[in-house]
Amino acid sequence: MTTAPAWWRSAVVYQIYPRSFCDRSGDGVGDLAGILEHLDHLVWLGVDALWLSPVYPSPMADFGYDITDYCDVDPLFGSLSDMDALISAAHDAGLSVVLDWVPNHTSDRHPWFVSSRSSRSSPRRDWYIWRDPSPSGGPPNNWRAAFAGVSGTEFPPAWTYDQASGQWYLHLFLSEQPDLNWSNPAVQSAMTATLRFWLERGVDGFRMDVIHAIAKDPDLPDLPPERSPIPMCAWIDDPACHPLVSLIRSAVKDANPDAVVIGEIVLPSVAQVASYYGRPAEPELDLAFNFHPLHARWDAAVWRRQIDLAVSEIAPVGWPAWALGNHDNPRQRTRYGSEARARAAAVLLLTQMGTPFLYAGEELGLADAAVAPERLVDPGGRDGCRAPIPWTPAAGHGWAGEPWLPWPPQASSGRDVESMRSTPGSTLDLYRRLLAARRASPALSLGSFAWLPSGRAAEPVLAYRRERDGDERVVAVNFSESPATLDLPGGSWAVEVSTHPRRASAVPNPLELRGDEAVVLRPGR
Ligand code: GLC
Repeated sequence: MTTAPAWWRSAVVYQIYPRSFCDRSGDGVGDLAGILEHLDHLVWLGVDALWLSPVYPSPMADFGYDITDYCDVDPLFGSLSDMDALISAAHDAGLSVVLDWVPNHTSDRHPWFVSSRSSRSSPRRDWYIWRDPSPSGGPPNNWRAAFAGVSGTEFPPAWTYDQASGQWYLHLFLSEQPDLNWSNPAVQSAMTATLRFWLERGVDGFRMDVIHAIAKDPDLPDLPPERSPIPMCAWIDDPACHPLVSLIRSAVKDANPDAVVIGEIVLPSVAQVASYYGRPAEPELDLAFNFHPLHARWDAAVWRRQIDLAVSEIAPVGWPAWALGNHDNPRQRTRYGSEARARAAAVLLLTQMGTPFLYAGEELGLADAAVAPERLVDPGGRDGCRAPIPWTPAAGHGWAGEPWLPWPPQASSGRDVESMRSTPGSTLDLYRRLLAARRASPALSLGSFAWLPSGRAAEPVLAYRRERDGDERVVAVNFSESPATLDLPGGSWAVEVSTHPRRASAVPNPLELRGDEAVVLRPGR
């Protein structure tokens, strides 16, 4: 007997950046009540799960990725009972709930760090990473922190000196985000207890922030000089990390075997990403984000290589995870330069072999907001993609207060959820049709992947076939602005979804794709 695939394999996960989703309280920052109000949007759209960026109590130095209590909700977003209500409403609507979990660092105002900093003899001193000054009196090594600051140009040292105790503490991100010492068993148990807390409240899994960074070489060696100007979080990949990820996985699975363990891995090679799936005897992540495609140019040859790498490096060890947008990167339309390309990218994302992650607002074809210098707030320069979601055409766009960031472009000229819902052919309509096609097709959601023999499908078109249990689909993406021709495999084919609003369903062979067009084809009669 074969067991059913885990739920998250066929799922599409919708990422909500809570500050920017919808504000009900009137303070201009999105909240849990705003998410609850719009759960129907997720159901209507056809996604299966939502992932919430952090809503824990936080001084917001990194907008929630600096946590002071892993087992509560910041009043800015609501309360624990609002969270309970959201989890249960999501479940009633058939949606799974994934929480962000930030294991690498806490806020510097977390009681653990306050105690750790208080003296060298604090029982929590060793919960963080403290070192004496280098012989010259400077930071203990040459590692740099992420984020150059709102107007900075150079990455600062990954160490901050504590005058009172005469030592430096390590922070791979802001100085307000001290790194936990995961080699300390007390840290391991305190942190895994926070996972159990949320699993008992009913969450269906976690997205684990920079999970590859949690183990440090105890010698804290310098980076080679050619690497040292780049923040350490982009390199760190210590072998001791794997048993820790495995331990974290066990903590989750012991509490709920169906819960999903997703990790953010930001490392230079796809092979390094793949290594965080672990080994059969010691599994680690269920899904590891691979950001190499997100950073790839809009070019058929570049994309062919990215898909080949996912197939050759990740698929043999685990089920790939695909993300073309998130709260850390410019939106698809901004990166690729046009809405037509962003639409083709929607087809690419939702037809790969693996679990897609869809960043809220991509379904509207949003571009990044232009944020005036005096309104920049993020030390990592990511404000543009965090612009608020416009829900309605009227001024205020369905938000109770004036949002913390400016609206994205065209929010007042039809690029809002309500207007786009009633516009056939809109990008919102395209996403909904793609998600419906994916949900209805075992080939698209769980099937195998194979390139179509190139034939005339040489660049700029990428064409592939997905197949499962006799169900099959062909997907073709034209990366060029000019028309291109594609030889289809034998048999007859019909268009299931096209990014082009006026594509007829009958398909001649060879198929003429319009510039920037992407199609999903199903077998014809
Ligand atoms: C991850 C998050 C990012 C955050 C950083 C530090 O990369 O996605 O938003 O700033 O970790 O927690």
